[in-house]
Amino acid sequence: MLDTANTTDQLEQHRQEFPGINNKLYFNFGGQGPLPRAALEAIIDTHKYLQHHGPFSTKVNAWLQQKTEFLRQNIAAELGVIPETIALTENVTVSCNIALWGINWQAGDEILLTDCEHPGVIATVQEIARRFGVKISTCPIQQTLNEGDPVSVIAQALQTNTRVLVLSHVLWNTGQVLPLAEIVQLCHENSVYVLVDGAQSVGCLPLNLSELQADFYAFTGHKWWCGPAGVGGLYIRPQFLRNYSRLLSDGAVSILRLTANRVTRKPMVDALK
Ligand SMILES: Cc1ncc(COP(=O)(O)O)c(C=O)c1O
Repeated sequence: MLDTANTTDQLEQHRQEFPGINNKLYFNFGGQGPLPRAALEAIIDTHKYLQHHGPFSTKVNAWLQQKTEFLRQNIAAELGVIPETIALTENVTVSCNIALWGINWQAGDEILLTDCEHPGVIATVQEIARRFGVKISTCPIQQTLNEGDPVSVIAQALQTNTRVLVLSHVLWNTGQVLPLAEIVQLCHENSVYVLVDGAQSVGCLPLNLSELQADFYAFTGHKWWCGPAGVGGLYIRPQFLRNYSRLLSDGAVSILRLTANRVTRKPMVDALK
């Protein structure tokens, strides 16, 4: 039998870990998660360590690499993938940018979006369209919230020149969870790559990215994972890394420019070999 008093105590204790919700009722809608006390303390301790031993020194550098690798391993374990497929970035928008700018676009290619995508990725797609003569098409997925089938909506929208589908796993405006595995299978049967915006799914749904098979999965720590703003990531499917080296080289360059972190760029550089 459920021990209600004990569960309430545990919930109360858990709430106490979040200073940001002590004085309010907080309904996390996926904009930005509240930071738990442990994360706040870790951030402060990190800055103290950096100032004490650096801020710039061999010791600090080695320490940061060790911490970063630890983070990457934990993220990978949580998402059901190997650490080499995870690159640390700033947030979802940066991860989508890396994925999209890494593709060797040809004039006439098409990017297929859904009608529920975030302005950040739409802006990136529009800039790519402007620079490379790529077409943008948008399919009506929102109407499938309570009826209809998102997979057939996407199937109908795919064209022979569709190169990439960009879609959210969980739609930010309705909360609908899209049947990603089926959508990915459909796209791969049509030689279309899939970039997933995981802003509202990572930390919210149990995920195994190896099983889902999407080519790119962009995510962030500052929403449902309740982590600090400024730490996000990009998963890239290993098969994709091997088969599409042109994209990889662009992707690696993007990563190198974005961070000075050897651990972060290692998987991309390895993949170029
Ligand atoms: C679906 C979706 N994609 C992208 C973003 C932007 O995320 P980030 O701030 O990590 O770039 C958000 C932010 O709310 C979102 O809801």
